[in-house]
Amino acid sequence: MALFMFVVIVIVLLEIKVMRRTFVIVRGLSRSTQISQPITNATGAIKYKRHAESGIMQFITIAKFAFTTLIIAFAIHRIINTIRTKPTINTQDTIKTQDASDMSFITRTITKVVRAIEQSEGVGARVRRTIGTGNLRNLSPFLMLDHFSVPYGAGFPDHPHRGQETVTYMLDGAFQHEDFVGHAGRIETGDLQWMTAGKGIVHSEMPVKQPGNKPNVGLQLWVDLPEAKKLTEPRYQELRDAQIPRAHPNEKVEIKVISGDSFGVKSPVQTLVGVWYLDVKIAPGGAVSQALPASWTTFVYTLTGRPTIAGKEVDPFNTVVLSTEGDGITIENKGKEEARFVIISGEPLEQRVVQHGPFVMTSEEGIYDAMRDFMSHSNGFERAKGWSSEIGKAMD
Ligand code: CO
Repeated sequence: MALFMFVVIVIVLLEIKVMRRTFVIVRGLSRSTQISQPITNATGAIKYKRHAESGIMQFITIAKFAFTTLIIAFAIHRIINTIRTKPTINTQDTIKTQDASDMSFITRTITKVVRAIEQSEGVGARVRRTIGTGNLRNLSPFLMLDHFSVPYGAGFPDHPHRGQETVTYMLDGAFQHEDFVGHAGRIETGDLQWMTAGKGIVHSEMPVKQPGNKPNVGLQLWVDLPEAKKLTEPRYQELRDAQIPRAHPNEKVEIKVISGDSFGVKSPVQTLVGVWYLDVKIAPGGAVSQALPASWTTFVYTLTGRPTIAGKEVDPFNTVVLSTEGDGITIENKGKEEARFVIISGEPLEQRVVQHGPFVMTSEEGIYDAMRDFMSHSNGFERAKGWSSEIGKAMD
């Protein structure tokens, strides 16, 4: 941009110079014409010669003038084009965060709706899985989304991970967690655990006993790690419900910012690949237009009520995949009960996904290495040797 401004200034200066010369020549020309007309003697020849010279000069000057005008017009055209084609959403700071009433907001559209069918997983656990099934693959960076319902007595005892992040968000009930590094804890309704498995984790995820053996319900999202960060040190980020910030774009909408940004409210969660994770509640008659980073893979998973997403009313337990063009997504609640859903958006990764159970790498060799390292307790799995969790024993 600065370069263009410089070029324009130079051209304008040149133009002024050329115009001044034109003026001088034209003035000289008219003077010589005036002088040359009445003189027809010997000195007249000189006058006529001057007149002829001035004619050539006039032609050159006009040509120069036309040429520089053309260049200026071209430069201005380029500048206008540069301004016009500059993407409106390119960073999280310049992103459009507008309300549903803003008519200039361009909503993304729906490309696919997949209903999450409940199925058995292990002993006593029920899981609604969409992403990670044959219906929904290639949603980089997302590998899997499970809406789980697990009563006490079932669960996920000691198992490894490598190469991904597992994000567990409790909707109702509680889960205990324990790993081979000595990290242990419990997440309850509304709490979040963002685990980066990195080079290796062996852990146990077990439900807590509830009154009347009510199942523990939540969402587990698997996020792929960029190839260069697959073997990073494992890390946990745990936030209690009250520690997760909320945005209130209007009186009918509450957005819990699990990660990313909503209406200027930012989550403290740090991610290795860009991920926005928003838990949205819209009261009947409400609407919101949530801005999203340009070209990120985005889907909505519906929990309660019947939100109208980009003009389409959707039942609970559906994964709604959105197009990548547009400023964000407009969602309304035309129903009589509160609509609750999560909006999840992530930066797509340009890499292969080679998955074998809980190991997610970018090549077959990577999977082979992961299995060998896990079996031989090496390269990140050293502490797996002789370790077993206390909470996992409940399954024995
Ligand atoms: Co796990």
